[in-house]
Order: sequence, then C-alpha cells, then structure tokens
Amino acid sequence: MEVVVESGNIEVKDYELLAVNLFEKEGLSETIKFIDRALDGLITRLIEAQEFQGRLNQTNLIHTMGKLKIKRVLMVGLGEKKEFNLEVVRIASGKVAQIVRELGLESYAQLFLEGTEFDADIIAQSVLEGSELALYRFDQYKTEKDERAKLVKKLIIYTPNEGLVPKIYEGVKVGGIIVEGVKLARDLANMPSNIGTPTFLAEKAIEVAKDCGLKCQILEREDMERLGMGGILNVSRGSDQPPKFIILEYNPLNDRVSPIVLIGKAITFDSGGISIKPSERMDEMKYDKSGGSAVIAIMQTVAKLKLPLRVIGIIPATENLPSGKAYKPGDIIKIYGGKTVEVINTDAEGRLILADAISYATQYKPEAIIDLATLTGACVIALGTLTCGMMGNDQRLKKGLMEAAKLSGEMVWELPLWKEYGEFIKSEVADMKNVGGRAAGAIIGAIFLSKFVENYPWVHLDIAGTAYTQEGSLEKTYIPKGATGFGVRLITQLLRNWKNL
Ligand code: BES
Ligand code: MN
Ligand code: ZN
Repeated sequence: MEVVVESGNIEVKDYELLAVNLFEKEGLSETIKFIDRALDGLITRLIEAQEFQGRLNQTNLIHTMGKLKIKRVLMVGLGEKKEFNLEVVRIASGKVAQIVRELGLESYAQLFLEGTEFDADIIAQSVLEGSELALYRFDQYKTEKDERAKLVKKLIIYTPNEGLVPKIYEGVKVGGIIVEGVKLARDLANMPSNIGTPTFLAEKAIEVAKDCGLKCQILEREDMERLGMGGILNVSRGSDQPPKFIILEYNPLNDRVSPIVLIGKAITFDSGGISIKPSERMDEMKYDKSGGSAVIAIMQTVAKLKLPLRVIGIIPATENLPSGKAYKPGDIIKIYGGKTVEVINTDAEGRLILADAISYATQYKPEAIIDLATLTGACVIALGTLTCGMMGNDQRLKKGLMEAAKLSGEMVWELPLWKEYGEFIKSEVADMKNVGGRAAGAIIGAIFLSKFVENYPWVHLDIAGTAYTQEGSLEKTYIPKGATGFGVRLITQLLRNWKNL
C-alpha cells in the first residue's frame, strides 16, 4: 500500500472515503466540526441520538450525497480518552482498513489524530502498523484469491496542520519498514512444514542478507558435527530434512562494539519426536519456527532502519520427527561447549537447539542475548495469549523490554528464575536432564537455558502463546488468524531505544 501525507483545505479534497476518529464523550475537532456542518449536523445528530457513542471499534458510514467533495465519511470510535494508547490507534486503523477493503475501494484517507500525549511520528507509525497488518493475508497458496484481497492500494493521511507533515512522514517511513518486517515474520512462520523447511529458512535468510547488506553464514550438518553441536544434531536425527544453523550479522560499525545477539527457535515442525504429541492440533506445530522467523525479520528491520548497533541473529533450524534414526528418551547428548544432557522427553527439543545457540554465541562476547522461542505449552497455561513470558538475569534489560512492550503493544510479563528451580532438572547420569516435572514448565524451560548462559545480560521470551492465534486468542483487527509476527515490533522498539536503556 502506498501511503502519502496531505495537508491543505479539506473542502477541496475529493477522497473516496475519509475516516474520522472520535473519542467517547469528547467534543469534535475543528475538521470534524466543519464536516458536520457540511452534512447539516448529521454527526452531531448521530451522537445526540446515542446511535454513535465512540466506543472502540464502533463505526458508522455516511455517504455525503454531494454535500462535500469527499464521497464517504467513516466515523470510527476510539473509546474513552483517558484509556487512550497506541494500541487504540492500531486497532481502530485496522478496523478502517478492513472496512475499506470490504467496500472494495482502492484508496482512502484518514484524518490524522491530534491532541493526544503522543508525538505525531509515533501515532503515524501506529496508523501504518494497524492498517497494513490488518490487511495481511497468507493467501499465496489459494488459487482463487479473494477478489478484494489486494484492492486497497493507497492510504492518504490527512492533517489540517501543515507543520506536522514532516513528522508524520518520519513515522510513516519507520512504520513501513516495521510492517514489512512483521509481514516477513508472518509469511515465514505461516509457511507449512512441507515448504517451510530448514533449507527454506536458510534460503530466505540469504535473500534478506543480500537485500539488506547483512553477512550470512549457514552452518551445515558437517559443520555442526565438527563443532560438536549435539543439541540440534540429535533433534534433527529423525528427519530427512538437513538441519541449518543460520547466522546473520548486521555490523555497520565494523566490529567496534560488542553485538547484541538475538536467538530464535526454528523447529519447522514439532511432532514431539519419539515422545510424540497427540494428533489433535498438531498442525499448529508448523508455527514452532516463529521465534526464528521473527529473528530473520528483525535483522531485516534493524538493517533497513540503519540502527547504529551491531546485531547478530542466530537461528537453529530443524524438524523434530520420530523415525528409526531419531533420538530417544534416555539418550545422553553433548551440547556445544561440552555440557551433557539426559533426554527425558524428546518433545522438549527447543531448549536443546537453543542450548547450542546460546553456547555458540558466547564467542561474540555479547553485550546481551535475547532469545525468542515457542518453548512451552506451560507458558500458555500460565499467562494465556495476551503476553509472552519473560525470564532473565538482568534487571535493566527486562525493564527495557517492559517499556518497549508498552509502546509496541507486544506484551511481556516476568516469571521468576530462582536458582532453586534448578533442583528439578538434576540428573543422575548427566549434567542435567531436559525436563523437570509438570509444575512450573515455563520456568524450568528457562532454567535449563540459563545453564548455558555466561556472564552477560540475557533474557528468554517464551512466545508459545503469542506467536500465533490459537484457542483463547482475543481477536484484534490488525492480528488476523495465523502467525502474528510477535517479537518484531517489540525487539525493534527495544533496539531503537537501546542507547537510552
Ligand atoms: N513447541 C512446543 C511448545 C508449544 C506448545 C508451542 C504449544 C506452542 C504451543 C515445545 O517444543 C514442547 O513440546 N514443549 C513441551 C515441553 C515438555 C515436554 C516439558 C510442552 O510444552 O509440552
Ligand atoms: Mn516439542
Ligand atoms: Zn517445540
């Protein structure tokens, strides 16, 4: 979608549709008052008659019948002003975009929202996120596409305040790059496992690297054998798909600073392996590559935003399948760096491939490590689908993530990581086992990972509940069914603010 910003006299605009935002129980802005007068007081009438209160997601479409050059006015509720935040902008902008698509219009305009506590650039960014992400569809494999799927071609952001135009354009530019990243993450994670293989992810990473000037290195099975990456090697044994250990690097300062390392779990299909999962909803396990998909997309976003940071993305990618060659419960395996693990359950595979990745990242002397992983069903039980679980060893990094969450709308909530939890993964025969009991499953997963973390800030984000819409997900306009791209907006926000943490 093309997005332009326009100012000037509203009287001369001939938009197909202009969306106007209204708060509950608040007066009309000057522009809306003008439109109201031109429509013989219709907007005031609708509000007075209580037919339109301005509740969030409430809309009302008016045909102007020649009283204005603008052909339609779409009233959109924003809820009460005291509850306003950027999420409201995303949800409402998403609603508008979807209505415009239903109407079959190719272009539309939205009156820019002023008079809130937020700067114009971040409001504009949120408008972009809401509208573009609401129009996202994963339809590349539908031979008969919904006719209107691609119809909305242009959004005009209109402001009567000419002075705001440059700032709005800044937000549009940043928002456009972020949206592109989220869509990439969704596309990768939505890909079914027969197409979205580890090899597929590696090829996409190479494409992104070429496109954005990143360094990309793919470690093949022989490399992993040479390095002793027993986590990913063992998890991949049951599969005919070769595992890939993907490393992307954004290094604009030529090694002058230590890197922030992002690690993303990319199990392209998680059947559970020999500890096989029940068949019901097993199809959802194609989303078990969501963390890795997000990291590839974040690398693209960081590079396109030209952030003054060094960032390395590590994506261990493999399937987890049962076969005569598969690793088995009771096996003892050796992670990169030498620690041994007794495999109690082959379905706790994510932590094994992440253990290799975290250990491997130590050589970079990282400034910080953040991992994103659809790690445990227990996290979904504990926190639901509104927030991911956050566990880590560094107060500043966790606080930075909390703040980035508030701005991005991708929420994080902390679970404890007390060392006593380590008791539950003690093994008689190896350095540790890969599962504790059923209790505190999300925390035990993080405790396992912490055994491979050295002396640097580290945070683990368990995104099992937020990576894709599932039973218990709340519907939001800008988060359609399927992969959400969770993490791209959150981590990008964190990195944009990195120097001020
Ligand atoms: N990929 C799953 C976790 C998951 C569950 C992601 C639901 C998304 C939605 C992970 O590999 C897994 O199977 N975890 C096990 C761990 C257990 C064996 C300790 C789980 O959650 O049951
Ligand atoms: Mn599993
Ligand atoms: Zn998994």
